[in-house]
Amino acid sequence: METYGFSWMDFVTAIPAPLFVATSYKSNGKPNACLQSRACFSGNPSGFYAILSSVDPAWHFYQSVKETGVAVLNFPSADVYDRCHQTIANNGFETDEIAASGLIAEKASAVNAPRIQECFLNLECRYLWEREIVEGSAHIVLCLEVVNICADEGRLDEAAQGRYGPDGYLYNVHYPVDPEKFAGKSRDWLAVLQKYRGMREY
Ligand SMILES: Cc1cc2nc3c(=O)[nH]c(=O)nc-3n(C[C@H](O)[C@H](O)[C@H](O)COP(=O)(O)O)c2cc1C
Repeated sequence: METYGFSWMDFVTAIPAPLFVATSYKSNGKPNACLQSRACFSGNPSGFYAILSSVDPAWHFYQSVKETGVAVLNFPSADVYDRCHQTIANNGFETDEIAASGLIAEKASAVNAPRIQECFLNLECRYLWEREIVEGSAHIVLCLEVVNICADEGRLDEAAQGRYGPDGYLYNVHYPVDPEKFAGKSRDWLAVLQKYRGMREY
């Protein structure tokens, strides 16, 4: 089975992962954008952290976050997604990857990185640490500390649209396959989150 650099277990489990665009400034000052979907977010009394679990060190994002020590994680809604995906095609070092994809880059408030205006949530972050999952692994785990949040107020309103609404957060769902029977190309899905029922009250 062709797994496109992923593990076959990615496709069998098809665990949904939130989609976001990591933005930063390249060494020439041009905005960089890297679509990602491998991360979890963890808060504790010391702060709020993003653990990016599969960062390819060959891409601009890794280089620029190492150089500047900061980045913004931008969460798109469904109407903005295609333009965010377009940043993959607009990946030249000399390219302003945000503008070239039809999006607006604005300066983040607390870090020296661009943020995408159209995204409903922007997490402004500073680099904390990185490590290999196993020795010699092709992708690395990178931990960022969130130092500032920029959010569309409408999205935070539980009463207005049930918090995030019908078009975001967006999730990447690997096409679920049986690896023994599968033949041909797989296709990932864009998904949105639907609330099921309330948990017990605290
Ligand atoms: C749905 C989707 C999810 C992706 N997730 C990741 C990811 O988690 N980590 C990563 O390094 N690249 C990921 N990529 C690939 C990068 O977005 C792509 O290689 C990008 O062009 C790199 O940009 P940069 O060189 O400007 O950093 C993903 C691509 C797609 C389409």
